[in-house]
Amino acid sequence: QKDGFRFFMEKEIYEQSVVISDTLMGRLREDEVVFDELDSTLFDGINEIKLCACGTSYHSAMSASYLFERYSKIKTSLEIASEFRYREPIMTKDTLFVAISQSGETADTLETLKMAKAAGLKTLVICNVDNSSMVRVADAAILTRAGIEKGVASTKAFATQVVVFWMLSLYVAKLKGSLTKMEIAAHISTLREVPSHVKVDDEMHERIKRVSKRYLHGHGFFFIGRDIFYPLALEGALKLKEISYLHAEGYPAGEMKHGPIALADPELFTIALLPKHLHYEKSKSNVEELSARDSTICAISQIPFDKADDFIEITTCESYMLEFFEMMVVVQLLSLEISIRLGNDVDMPRNLAKSVTVE
Ligand code: F6R
Repeated sequence: QKDGFRFFMEKEIYEQSVVISDTLMGRLREDEVVFDELDSTLFDGINEIKLCACGTSYHSAMSASYLFERYSKIKTSLEIASEFRYREPIMTKDTLFVAISQSGETADTLETLKMAKAAGLKTLVICNVDNSSMVRVADAAILTRAGIEKGVASTKAFATQVVVFWMLSLYVAKLKGSLTKMEIAAHISTLREVPSHVKVDDEMHERIKRVSKRYLHGHGFFFIGRDIFYPLALEGALKLKEISYLHAEGYPAGEMKHGPIALADPELFTIALLPKHLHYEKSKSNVEELSARDSTICAISQIPFDKADDFIEITTCESYMLEFFEMMVVVQLLSLEISIRLGNDVDMPRNLAKSVTVE
């Protein structure tokens, strides 16, 4: 069943290219995105999108918040489901409530969806499991088509969620006229390139295996990035925590100087996401500050970075979103290889279950 891979997580990382092609299938025209399952009236009278999820799905939701505001020009807010449930939130009817879940069964997220419906909001779920509880409750659903995910640490579900959100941001951009046809067409041709950019390159995987050796015994990890690379940093840190049991935090690169940089020393590992096409100089100077304070740096970029102790080069690409997906694979593989070197069972991390159906 593992098709020669050591763990389901590894197999699922390698499957991402195929499942992303499935996610895109039939949904891209030359200059528009189509979702057969959506009625565009869902967006009538909507002035805000509220995204709600847990864990990895929350990180894809956070990525979506950057895309919706940047491309759809629609106000977007974000909530952790277990917080939203109990904090007496204000819900207004011009808000589209969007729940995100791989399983469609996570108790906290399901409950927030029911709350939003009861408050009279229109609801949409982005989900990987057809006919799951959330799909049945929501007014509309978009399926991510990642296939069954067995690894407890979510990988391909996250990848397909971000792809769906990127498409949805273009769908809304068309409805609202916030991007031109030409701009949407340019995005669509970049979207079509994603499957080839998440294909795992053997040489890069070998390099990550070698690099992982240095990152087994520090006192902590900071994954840092700016803009949409911040939720990717959070996701990288969560992957590492889950399967390696090492302490890791995702942090906005520009925020390190407001406290966490005090932790910097050679035993503090910084995993730096340095996209060429989004705030490169700003992020680079944040990493230089950490390097000057002796943090051990692993830089992931398409531009060589001479201050790094380790440098993982991604394929040349002309779009920051392609860099996002390239780096996603790197952080997934890095977590996998660190965990394997530590002798852990990657698919059965301690204390975790695949689906959290209790509060
Ligand atoms: C992390 C992971 C969890 C889930 C979270 C939500 O690798 O798998 O953080 O993302 O429990 O699950 P779903 O998406 O099924 O609602």
